[in-house]
Amino acid sequence: MLFALPPEASHRLAHRLLGLPLPWERLSGAERDPALEVSLAGMRLANPVALAAGFDKTGRHADPLGRLGFGYVVCGTFTRRPRAGHPKPRIVRYPRRMSMANAMGLPNPGAEAAASTLARVRRTGPRVASIADQDLADVLEAHALLEPHVDAIELNASCPNVSWGRDRDNEAHLASLLRELGTRRSKPLFVKLPPFRTDIERDVVLALADIAQRAGADGLTVSNTLPVGDRRLSVGAGGLSGRALLEGTVSNLREIRVATGGALPLNASGGIFTATDALACIGAGATTVQVYTGLVFEGPGIVRELTRGLSEALRSRRADFAALIGSA
Ligand SMILES: Cc1cc2nc3c(=O)[nH]c(=O)nc-3n(C[C@H](O)[C@H](O)[C@H](O)COP(=O)(O)O)c2cc1C
Repeated sequence: MLFALPPEASHRLAHRLLGLPLPWERLSGAERDPALEVSLAGMRLANPVALAAGFDKTGRHADPLGRLGFGYVVCGTFTRRPRAGHPKPRIVRYPRRMSMANAMGLPNPGAEAAASTLARVRRTGPRVASIADQDLADVLEAHALLEPHVDAIELNASCPNVSWGRDRDNEAHLASLLRELGTRRSKPLFVKLPPFRTDIERDVVLALADIAQRAGADGLTVSNTLPVGDRRLSVGAGGLSGRALLEGTVSNLREIRVATGGALPLNASGGIFTATDALACIGAGATTVQVYTGLVFEGPGIVRELTRGLSEALRSRRADFAALIGSA
């Protein structure tokens, strides 16, 4: 039904539904299996299936989304000041490829408003705030405002829809951000990397992973959307998400795991729809799997499908979750 509407209208309707006092736990039916429990940088998670950044851009739905059974929910991305994002249309769907392209441009209410929302919203599960900004001082302020209301921060070093970072030295910028955050933070910090497909991109992304590791980041999210052109988007280009990304996600995970010596937990993001997809990512080194486009195409039942499938895989292998990580 939601798919009969244009993408942003269906997104708004989904958010209205999330505002209703419905029994979200029962609607999703996430599997509750102690074997699925996992620790991510000290955060105890009921399962490794998470909601990726960008779905709850305000933090208002962290409670119902937590009750859907996600192991954790990433809210945001938040910037220090509010942003309107790009003009519409900002999302196109590719139903046959089970993929989408978006050029949202990080619309969000700003870190101050998001912090007061998160302070009000009941904590039903672990939650993470995604932050990004152009200037160091803004990142530090957004971090300070949001960190008290979440269990961890994910630094979005990878949004393809904003221009900062293209005209500056990405590596030096990330290094100074992490250096400054390192002395102030009291909770885990993850860095979300861009995907790579070419040798040149690989060098850039592995350099960012190395900087994050040296600066003491607690984990890496692999990866964000892949830049694509599409004239139907108001700005003519955006980030590809969904099924089309899965193969690249698995191979990027494998390479980043080798490059970081398996010392950092990895959160997989990109094209995960089924338990088989999740297992491929976990086998390639992921500790958790984040979904976004899969939730849009499959609905909230995806949490049950993934948690049940993972639980069955563990039972058939008589393994616990930790034994699965990096087993490919
Ligand atoms: C409409 C839309 C908005 C997104 N907004 C953000 C965002 O604000 N911050 C971010 O880090 N990632 C954002 N993402 C990227 C997702 O978090 C995820 O990394 C990406 O879509 C790949 O996963 P998927 O194939 O499961 O969707 C967005 C994705 C979509 C489709």
